[in-house]
Amino acid sequence: MDWGMSNRISRMIKPTTGRSVMLACDHGYFMGPTRKLENPRETIDPLIPYADTLAVTRGVLRTSVDPKWDTPILLRVSGGASILKEDLSDEEITTSMREALRLNAAAVAISIFVGTPHEKQSLVNLSRLVDEGEDYGMPVMAITAVGKELEKRDAKYLALACRLGAEIGARIVKTYYCENFSKVANGSPVPLVVAGGPKLNTETDVFNLVHNALDEGAVGVDMGRNIWQNDHPVAMIKAIRSIVHEKATVKEAVDIFNENKKAGAHGR
Ligand code: 5RP
Repeated sequence: MDWGMSNRISRMIKPTTGRSVMLACDHGYFMGPTRKLENPRETIDPLIPYADTLAVTRGVLRTSVDPKWDTPILLRVSGGASILKEDLSDEEITTSMREALRLNAAAVAISIFVGTPHEKQSLVNLSRLVDEGEDYGMPVMAITAVGKELEKRDAKYLALACRLGAEIGARIVKTYYCENFSKVANGSPVPLVVAGGPKLNTETDVFNLVHNALDEGAVGVDMGRNIWQNDHPVAMIKAIRSIVHEKATVKEAVDIFNENKKAGAHGR
C-alpha cells in the first residue's frame, strides 16, 4: 500500500489497538436538521476530543468544524436524494476528489445501495471514486446503505453488500451490526466498522451492539444517533471508547457511562 494511503488509514484506525471510534455527523445530507444535530457545531464540539475520526459533509466541515482541530475527517461525498423520496438510492458523487484533497480529508465515504433500483449507479459511482482515490492515496469507505428498508439488515444481505464494496476497491466498509455478524465480517477482505442506526432503547443495548460487533470481527464503529441523541453524549462516547480501545465489558461500559453521567462530563 502506498505511504499516503497507509498513513491516512492509520490516522483513522489507531495502530495501537487496530480499532477506531468514528463519530458520524453526516446525516443532514439527506435527513436535514436531524434531532440533536440541528446545530452541528454544538453537537460536535464536546465530542470531538473522544473521536478518532469525524464523518461530515463539506458544508458542515467548513461551517462547524474548527480547522485547528486535528481529528481526521471522513468526508461524505455522495448524495442527491432527500428523506422526502421513497427511494433514497438515487445518489451521485457530490464532492470532487480535488475538494476532498483541498479539505485535507483522511478518507471519503460513499453509499452503495445493493438490491435497489439504483444498484448499478451506486456501484459504478463507487468504482469511479476508488479509481480517483487510488490515484491520490485517498481511502474510500463504502457504506452499505439500506435507505428506509431497515429490515434488510441481515447477515445474508449485508455480507453480499460488504463484499461487493470490498471487491470494487473500498479500503474500509461501513455496515450494520446484525445476528450472525461474523458471517459478514468473514466475507469481507477489508476492515468493517458498524453504524448504530436509529436510537436504541437503552445504553446497554448500544454497548451490547458495539461489544458484539467487535467480538465478531468489526474494527470499530462509525456511530451517530446513539451517541449524540443520548441525553449524555460525552458519557456515551467515553463508554464506547472503553469497549473499542480498552476491551471493556458491557458491564464496565455501563459503569463508565454512569460515572461520567454523574460527573456531568462535558468534553472540552
Ligand atoms: C448517514 C450515515 C451515518 O453516518 C450512519 O448511518 C451512522 O450513523 P448512525 O449511527 O446514526 O446510524 O451514513 O447516512
